[in-house]
Amino acid sequence: MKKLLAVSILLVSIVIFSGAIDEIKSRGYLLVGLSADFPPFEFVDENGNIVGFDVDLAKEIARRLGVELKIVDMTFDGLIPSLLTKKIDVIISGMTITEERKKVVAFSDPYFDAGQVIVVRKDSDFRPKTYEDLVGKTVAVQIGTTGDIEVSKYDGIKVVRFDKFTDAFLELKRGRADAVVLDSATARAFVAKNPDLVISSGVLSSEQYGIAVRKEDTDLLEFINSVLRELKKSPYDVLIEKWFSE
Ligand code: ARG
Repeated sequence: MKKLLAVSILLVSIVIFSGAIDEIKSRGYLLVGLSADFPPFEFVDENGNIVGFDVDLAKEIARRLGVELKIVDMTFDGLIPSLLTKKIDVIISGMTITEERKKVVAFSDPYFDAGQVIVVRKDSDFRPKTYEDLVGKTVAVQIGTTGDIEVSKYDGIKVVRFDKFTDAFLELKRGRADAVVLDSATARAFVAKNPDLVISSGVLSSEQYGIAVRKEDTDLLEFINSVLRELKKSPYDVLIEKWFSE
């Protein structure tokens, strides 16, 4: 009886105290959630593979953990719920660090600076510079993004929300929306591939991307931050560190 109790206490404590990293390592793969509609961070290439900056970042984290990488593609607004219900271990999806999101998930150190811009059709003479200029117009966004949140603050803007940015752009190209609001680097990537579109505004916000994990997974968060620090180090920084720190 005593033995049984001791064994159960041991098992319960293993479940409670073993960190996220132990779990990932014993499973053998890291589950990374993203929405693959966001070039150059995550998108589907001509061979049907999900590639991009965030995917390379994910590969580097998995490699340094010594596990395989499994990418889980989903809608952007499904990412945080999937993280909280443990369907994925981390979110690496060009996700802006915001106070609202910080209430439910923990973010890594920032890894990219970004901001919203307005994209319109080149053949129209509509060239909005501010969100105010969008009042009375129809704006396509991806559901739950910072762009969605910003334009939704204006009563007079008709916001049409899509699961994927690719569909928001189709709406604009077909003339059913007057503009798309999204992050500048991704806007540039879409416009480069779609000569009928143009970025009409300057950068309207100042945002930073972070990798999101569950709040209790502090070991994983620390590990991810150490990987980001390593990746940000130039060979010059490494030399300085070698010769000038004790
Ligand atoms: N940075 C914006 C946000 O966090 C948009 C991110 C969209 N990412 C994506 N993979 N579709 O809300």
